Amino acid sequence: MSDGATARGSATEREEARKTAEGLEHLSGFGNEHSSEAVPGALPVGRNSPQRAPLGLYAEQLSGSAFTEPRAENRRSWLYRIRPSAAHPSFTRTGNGALRSAPFTQTVPDPNRLRWNPLPDPDEGTDFLAGLWTLGGNGDVAQRSGMAVHLYHATASMRRVFSDADGELLIVPERGGLLLRTEFGMLHVEPGHVALIPRGVRFRVELLDETARGYVCENYGAAFRLPDLGPIGANGLANARDFRAPVAAYEDVEGPVEVVNKFCGNLWAATYDHSPLDVVAWHGNHVPYAYDLRRFNVMGTISYDHPDPSIFTVLTSPSDTPGLAGVDFVVFAPRWLVGEDTFRPPYFHRNVMSEYMGLIEGAYDAKAAGKGGFVPGGGSLHNMMSAHGPDRETFDRASAAELRPQKIDDGLAFMFETRWPVSLTPQAARAEHLQQGYDDVWRGLERHFRPLH
Ligand SMILES: [Fe+2]
Repeated sequence: MSDGATARGSATEREEARKTAEGLEHLSGFGNEHSSEAVPGALPVGRNSPQRAPLGLYAEQLSGSAFTEPRAENRRSWLYRIRPSAAHPSFTRTGNGALRSAPFTQTVPDPNRLRWNPLPDPDEGTDFLAGLWTLGGNGDVAQRSGMAVHLYHATASMRRVFSDADGELLIVPERGGLLLRTEFGMLHVEPGHVALIPRGVRFRVELLDETARGYVCENYGAAFRLPDLGPIGANGLANARDFRAPVAAYEDVEGPVEVVNKFCGNLWAATYDHSPLDVVAWHGNHVPYAYDLRRFNVMGTISYDHPDPSIFTVLTSPSDTPGLAGVDFVVFAPRWLVGEDTFRPPYFHRNVMSEYMGLIEGAYDAKAAGKGGFVPGGGSLHNMMSAHGPDRETFDRASAAELRPQKIDDGLAFMFETRWPVSLTPQAARAEHLQQGYDDVWRGLERHFRPLH
């Protein structure tokens, strides 16, 4: 096939994928006991594993938590599929590409504040999996603790199927829409949305635009959940009803399909004789989901100061210590600033937690925008106890601003905030797109101290 024909072929595929994506139905709610069947009668009634599952399907449980975890923590789903997952040949090691996993021990942990430009353009034909590039992380995949920060930049839809035994994948698109074909059905996400693929769930990423770029938090620890709301009350932040789960949709494909499995930090591949996305019906609460960050109900001050950014938490992965997250996913969404006698941008800060920030669109209110700054697709890392805060220009402007109600609506930034320092991969520590001179944004913060005499 000529290059032209390939390009035309993929344009048609993208068009078809977009049509599919835009026509999708979904189930709504976070953490629900959902159920769905693509063919009427495929879902057993009144039991999980009947002697003969309906329509000649195989019944299979997918456990996302130990059987005996408390009910509130317990995650599992029952899948009714054309073939059981067990029907596959041996996996053999395949290249990890630019994907790396914890423990991250190849570089000396760096206390410096760091910032990256977006990933360089990938080669033609790079799919989501090949386009994953690991910045760093913490913990240990084999201990099911910690997290990794990945970026992706893809130019082609996946033909293969991927699953991650090491953790759940929170996908944060920054450029280009995605159609996620999962065992549970399909999800459509655009920049400004997030998608979560639970640990072990098989999926394929199809592109809806020529390229796709974004961020991924691979969470090795406890599954993400909505944060407790405390005195906020029963509503607010990310509302449970706004989360979208797929309806059952299956592929009935007989023929070779490459399936890649990430296990304890390495990629393993096997060629199946059928598609493993063959689940005709399912029920349970261990499911993929998507969420539009613009639905986030932002809370903030209506008097003075502003709350800590934990008030912007979308999802949290708790640890054994109450209130101490393995990782929080936090969004800085459009909002009003009305605080009186208040320095309104994010304050100067040193944090026992480590903060990786990314930008989905526009600008972030603590940093001047523009080339060489904090740009969409780029990211910054403020590791444990590293001092950060607004740059000089932002400080000067905010200190002198007239404090009228002000709408912040020109950007969508987010943070992966984690309890352990983020150690870099060598490719991130030596990347050409690592900015030099990030410290300079805090240079020239003038001395204003005037002791009273
Ligand atoms: Fe901070």
